[in-house]
Amino acid sequence: MKAVLLTAHGGPENLHYTDAPDPVAGVGEVVVDVHAASINAADWKVRVGGHGYNVKFPHILGRDFSGVVSALGAGATDFAVGDAVFGVMDAGIEGTYAEKLKIKAGIIARKPDSLNHAQATAMALTSLTAIWALEDTAQLKAGETVLIQGGAGGVAGFAIQLAKHIGAHVITTASAGNRDYVAGLGADRVIDYRSEDFAKTVSGCDVVFDTVGGDVRPGCYTVLKPGGRMVFIAQAPDGFVVPRDDVKTLRPAVNRDRAHLERMKVLLAAGAVSPPVITEYPLSEAAAAHRVSEARHLRGKLVLMVR
Ligand SMILES: NC(=O)c1ccc[n+]([C@@H]2O[C@H](COP(=O)([O-])OP(=O)(O)OC[C@H]3O[C@@H](n4cnc5c(N)ncnc54)[C@H](OP(=O)(O)O)[C@@H]3O)[C@@H](O)[C@H]2O)c1
Repeated sequence: MKAVLLTAHGGPENLHYTDAPDPVAGVGEVVVDVHAASINAADWKVRVGGHGYNVKFPHILGRDFSGVVSALGAGATDFAVGDAVFGVMDAGIEGTYAEKLKIKAGIIARKPDSLNHAQATAMALTSLTAIWALEDTAQLKAGETVLIQGGAGGVAGFAIQLAKHIGAHVITTASAGNRDYVAGLGADRVIDYRSEDFAKTVSGCDVVFDTVGGDVRPGCYTVLKPGGRMVFIAQAPDGFVVPRDDVKTLRPAVNRDRAHLERMKVLLAAGAVSPPVITEYPLSEAAAAHRVSEARHLRGKLVLMVR
């Protein structure tokens, strides 16, 4: 098969579109012919290396995918060859920047008919993460106020829609060019983080969901009510110490399972969430997509088209 191999930690020039061995399904696994694989922020972090992101080379990046089952391992009875499926690689495993992958059948789901393959992969890890963060971890409730940092990004874009569906009042941060986009996702208040310091103008939040991290993290604590919940998926600055003991700091588990993919499908069918804006790249141009992703100002999702 063709795949994009990462041959060393470093820049996008270390990504090479070339031949790689076909995967073989083990017990309980299926082989999927990948049609589309999305770019997630974690991908360029693994490519760069450090901060616990070290891998052995050559390595195939990529965490989510949509495609068609092409082989069944022993005991993999959930699907038939030809079924359209989507999902997220198990924790600690990557490999979706490729024409084929193998994965445990039990953690993937049938692709919703209403989504094409690019849309399905674009919503796989982002929806799993947002659902784990807002429903399972923050346990966000109707009438509560949530600040979602980085509204134009992949996870946050899904989170805004989910929070509105739950019935929360949603505040989000975005650059000026993304104001209309995040308002269109349902945000009640959009803060242009370049001209307004949210830490000075926002208060009384029940929940903050930080998908940006770094210098943004300290201010997230300032805006929380006593008893509030700080949920994060992005790293705090080095040496950061939580400044309050009257709020909870929570990191979602983001376990890969079929239940959360099915939950996304229920939300989709109810019209509560829709696919993000997608920019497509051929698989062979993964390096170009990485340059956009790591610049950290994209809108929606970048997707590698494999077939
Ligand atoms: N399992 C997990 O724990 C898990 C899963 C998925 C993702 N993550 C992590 O979550 C983070 C977000 O991932 P993602 O894929 O959703 O990211 P992404 O799609 O790459 O989002 C980047 C977004 O951040 C916005 N942004 C950049 N600087 C900002 C700032 N100072 N304030 C507000 N917004 C800002 C940009 O919008 P503007 O152009 O408007 O600035 C851009 O849309 C990453 O750190 C990723 O590694 C963790």
